[in-house]
Amino acid sequence: MNEEQRLDASKVTQKKEEKDYSQYFQHVYQPPNLRDARRRGKAEVEYHMDFEIDERFKGLGKGRKFFIRTYGCQMNVHDTEVIAGILTALGYEHTDTTDDADVILLNTCAIRENAENKVFGEIGNLKHVKQNNPEVLIGVCGCMAQEESVVNKILKSYQNVDIIFGTHNIHRLPNILDEAYMSKEKVIEVWSKEGDVIENLPKVREGGTKAWVNIMYGCDKFCTYCIVPFTRGKERSRMPEDILDEVRDLAARGYQEITLLGQNVNSYGKDLNLDYNYDLGDLMRDVSETDIPRVRFTTSHPWDFTDNLIEVLATGENLMPHIHLPVQSGNNDVLKIMGRKYTREEYLELVGKIRDRMPEVALTTDIIVGYPNETEEQFQDTLTLYQEVGFEHAYTYIYSPRDGTPAAKMEDNVSDQDKKDRLQRLNRLVTHYTRDALSKYQDEYVNVLCEGTSKKRDDVYAGYTDKSKLVNFTAPDDGVIGKIVKVKITETKNYSLMGEFVEVLNEEKVEA
Ligand code: SAH
Ligand code: SF4
Ligand code: F3S
Repeated sequence: MNEEQRLDASKVTQKKEEKDYSQYFQHVYQPPNLRDARRRGKAEVEYHMDFEIDERFKGLGKGRKFFIRTYGCQMNVHDTEVIAGILTALGYEHTDTTDDADVILLNTCAIRENAENKVFGEIGNLKHVKQNNPEVLIGVCGCMAQEESVVNKILKSYQNVDIIFGTHNIHRLPNILDEAYMSKEKVIEVWSKEGDVIENLPKVREGGTKAWVNIMYGCDKFCTYCIVPFTRGKERSRMPEDILDEVRDLAARGYQEITLLGQNVNSYGKDLNLDYNYDLGDLMRDVSETDIPRVRFTTSHPWDFTDNLIEVLATGENLMPHIHLPVQSGNNDVLKIMGRKYTREEYLELVGKIRDRMPEVALTTDIIVGYPNETEEQFQDTLTLYQEVGFEHAYTYIYSPRDGTPAAKMEDNVSDQDKKDRLQRLNRLVTHYTRDALSKYQDEYVNVLCEGTSKKRDDVYAGYTDKSKLVNFTAPDDGVIGKIVKVKITETKNYSLMGEFVEVLNEEKVEA
């Protein structure tokens, strides 16, 4: 986004908001506006290779500590790694508790109402931290910060929040913090329209075994229920070479697995205007030729799942045989008003094509129940589709109206009780299929990338199989951590597998 567009965006919104909250505006005040967020900018996305911390901000964090709490999807988890990278470059140290933090950031998710409620609860809890230490800076960032209703609510009811910034201007964090320290006023800087693609942002990755790699930002699909196209802006792909450089660097540093990330990775490349055709299939092929042992990607939209992609995935090797393919509903009328742009039949045809080329593939999905006016019969179509595909797992949700989306304006005649009841019935089916998929592993051998010890016990190790099944297993010592190992499954549970270490398959040592 160029300067002119940005000023344009802020002019419109400032006029509207200035009256109500003017006491906060002496310094940076750039609030979000969902209507602006909907308008896709015509300007070409610019690629900046040159992120650098300005000299005047270096040392800003000296002697100070930061704490970040992350909500939402992998995109947010990865954004937190970037935020931590910037803060570390500024001289801040990480801390695990809010008690000794000088900066507390909540990286938020707006996908459903209960996700937002959790954040408001947490902001409330932080009031006592501010009372004990009035110098602490409390910040809200991420997808909720892109919503004007949220920003207004924070300004009105949560005086303890000092800074608010959005998903498009994370690289502005040094300026925002500096402004907050200098002015001692609230600093609100949210760009309603997406920014440019900025390469070489510093990152502090969580762990040295698995890494997230962004391949694109934003979403242009505008499913009628979804807030993401508003909070994340238009689709912007990173250049193939920049992605491949990042992957090669991760492989050289001993990372064992990468997940290519995007809201809708199947649209990758469409906006790039290259002289040649280059889509997700091409990118996956190039990524598979690097030395990284395992490659995953998320999230796929059934709409652009090309034959090229299926062919590339079918070559196997380091491309993991697990596809998360959200279906949302099994009924054509519901799919239509959701704006998903495929029918039940087309989805099933795609599943058939994928399974023809990859008979062993594990398929998982996302489902929304209780869409406005969803009938019992339409819900039944979702259950039958689930059975027909035989998904190995699903994330299931009750529809939650999101401010500014088309579905939020629809009348809804489905009672809360019916929605809960449908979710319960669907979840029973999901549990049944998940358990069934896991039970097939009894006495089988699987490959597991060991990530560390299990959550509950220090002498039990944990990791995921090629098909993303969680395995807890015994092993002689810590030598298995960070390696891909062969495990014999001794017990199957509802959501995980238990096993015994057999041998290390991949001897490469991972740097911490
Ligand atoms: N880009 C991904 C989805 C990201 S959001 C895709 O298109 O598949 C993750 C999941 O949250 C969605 O798949 C959907 O099932 C659910 N979701 C999104 N908006 C929702 C809403 N308003 N209410 C309930 N669930 C929602
Ligand atoms: Fe939301 Fe649809 Fe985009 Fe997924 S594809 S992020 S559900 S609008
Ligand atoms: Fe939530 Fe934003 Fe991800 S709304 S699901 S954190 S893109």
